[in-house]
Amino acid sequence: MATRKIDFPVANVRRYLEPGPIVLVSSAWRDKRNIMTMGWHTVMEFVPALVGCVIAGGNYSFSLIRRSGECVINLPTTALTDTVVGIGNCSGAAVDKFEKFGLTALPARNVKASLIAECHANFECRLKDDSLVDRYNFFIFEVVKAHVAPRPKYPQTLHYTGDGVFVVSGKIVSRRSQFRPKML
Ligand SMILES: Cc1cc2nc3c(=O)[nH]c(=O)nc-3n(C[C@H](O)[C@H](O)[C@H](O)COP(=O)(O)O)c2cc1C
Repeated sequence: MATRKIDFPVANVRRYLEPGPIVLVSSAWRDKRNIMTMGWHTVMEFVPALVGCVIAGGNYSFSLIRRSGECVINLPTTALTDTVVGIGNCSGAAVDKFEKFGLTALPARNVKASLIAECHANFECRLKDDSLVDRYNFFIFEVVKAHVAPRPKYPQTLHYTGDGVFVVSGKIVSRRSQFRPKML
């Protein structure tokens, strides 16, 4: 059934196109470490596992990740909602966000950046392609190691709609039987 539409500001289309999930990106370079909140990421390829994302040039994380060529993408759940907001509203240039937000840094296997223990999953990433960084601040990472909590299978993740509002992942809908095997 067709629905009636109204004119909508293009600057706000993120409200519909930015499904998240919100992630916490940890980084390290020399003796510095940091965490930033991120919603602007996208899966680009399954094998190798490529993830593209925008890291604003003014972020402290930008310089650590540009220099080290590494990061960890950590997946928080709703248990960390206030932490997600707090981390995304301050700069790591002045504070250690692991200490400020009481997060546990665990060593990663393949990168120097730490895993955030309180998150549901941790994806160790290496910078694969920086050809779009100067023009768009767009980094293409390869996930080289993944750590995932076995339960719950579908964690309650946060999905940002802009304007300080999140949607929480909810009802699970499966249509597995209607998929061609190679599409799964
Ligand atoms: C919900 C949310 C989503 C965000 N998504 C992004 C993003 O995708 N890319 C980005 O550059 N900044 C994003 N930010 C802003 C950064 O998290 C914020 O600028 C942070 O303070 C940067 O920290 P840093 O300077 O310590 O690196 C987001 C912030 C919030 C609260």
